[in-house]
Amino acid sequence: MVAKVLTDITSPVADELERFEGYMREQMKSRAALLDTIVRYIMRQRGKRIRPTLVFLSAGICGEITERTFVGASMVELLHTATLVHDDVVDQADERRGMASINAVWKNKVSVLVGDYLLSRGLLIAVKKSEFEFLRVTSEAVRRMSEGELLQIQKSRQRTIDEETYFRIISDKTASLISTCCEIGALSATSDIGVHALMKEYGELVGLAFQIRDDVLDYTSRSSILGKPVATDLKDQKVTLPLLYACQNAPSSEAQSIISLVKRKKPGRKEIDTIFGFVNRYHGIESAQNKAGALVSDAIRLVADMPNSAYKTSLIDFANFVVTRSS
Ligand code: IPE
Ligand code: MG
Ligand code: MG
Repeated sequence: MVAKVLTDITSPVADELERFEGYMREQMKSRAALLDTIVRYIMRQRGKRIRPTLVFLSAGICGEITERTFVGASMVELLHTATLVHDDVVDQADERRGMASINAVWKNKVSVLVGDYLLSRGLLIAVKKSEFEFLRVTSEAVRRMSEGELLQIQKSRQRTIDEETYFRIISDKTASLISTCCEIGALSATSDIGVHALMKEYGELVGLAFQIRDDVLDYTSRSSILGKPVATDLKDQKVTLPLLYACQNAPSSEAQSIISLVKRKKPGRKEIDTIFGFVNRYHGIESAQNKAGALVSDAIRLVADMPNSAYKTSLIDFANFVVTRSS
C-alpha cells in the first residue's frame, strides 16, 4: 500500500477546511491589541488542522456536514491551540510548528493568559450556539487533558512507570481530544447514539496511536522535521513507550540500570546516547510502532461496516497516516 499524504486524506473536506480558516480567525478576534497581534501570529504558525479534519470527516461518514460541524471544529481547534500554548510554557519549549513559541516571543506570563483566552473562546462558542452537548464533551476532554499532563509530571518524578499508567496518561492527554473530535462530528450529523459511540471509540484508538507515534518521533526525528524540539521526553525524565518496551525486552538488571540513569539526574548528551543505544538494541521503537499499528487496525475495523464514501476512505487512510507520519 502506498502511504497517503495528509493533503490526499483531507481532500474530501478541502472546501470545509478552507471556510474553517475564516471561521477560526473570526472566533479568535479580540479588541485588545496585544491579544490580536498574538492571535495573528498563531494563525501564521498554522498547524496541520488534524482535529477539525477529523470533525468534518466524522460528520461526513455519518451523513452530512452541517453548520453545527463548523461549530464543533472551531471548538476543538481552539482548545487544542490553547493546550499547545500552555504546553510550551510547561515544557519551556522555544519552538512550535517551526516558529518561535509564544513563550519564546512574549514570555510565560502572556502565554498563560493567551492560553486561557483561547480556552474560554473555545468553550464560549458552544454557549453562544446553545450546543450544550458539545460543551459537555469538550469540557470533559479539557479536564482529562489537564489530569493526563499532571499524572505525567507526577510519574516523571517517580522511579517506575508501567504500561497501564503510560496508556492512562496518553489516553487522557491526547486521545481524549481526538476522540472528542470524532464524537462531535458524529453528534453534528446524526442522532444515532450507537454511531456516536463507535466514532468516539475510533477516535480513542487513533488518538492513542497518534501519541505513540509522537513519542517514537521524539526518539527518531530531528527538530528541523518536527518543527519542535526532540529528545525532550528523556530530558524531562519521562519514560515513554519505546523505552518502556525496551525495558520489557531487556534482561531486568540492564533495564534497571538504564532506568536509574534516566531518573538519577536530568540526562545530558552522553546519557541520552546510552539510552538511545539501549532502546535500539532491545527494539523499543519497533515494539512501540507495532503496538500503534495494532491500535490502528482495531480503529479501521470499527469503521469498516459504515457505508462506503470518500469520508470513510479518508478515515481509514488517516488511521494509517497516524502511525507513519514524520511530523
Ligand atoms: C501535537 O498535535 C500535540 C500532540 C502530539 C498531542 P499536532 O501534531 O496535531 O499539532 P499541530 O496542531 O499540527 O501543530
Ligand atoms: Mg511539549
Ligand atoms: Mg512529545
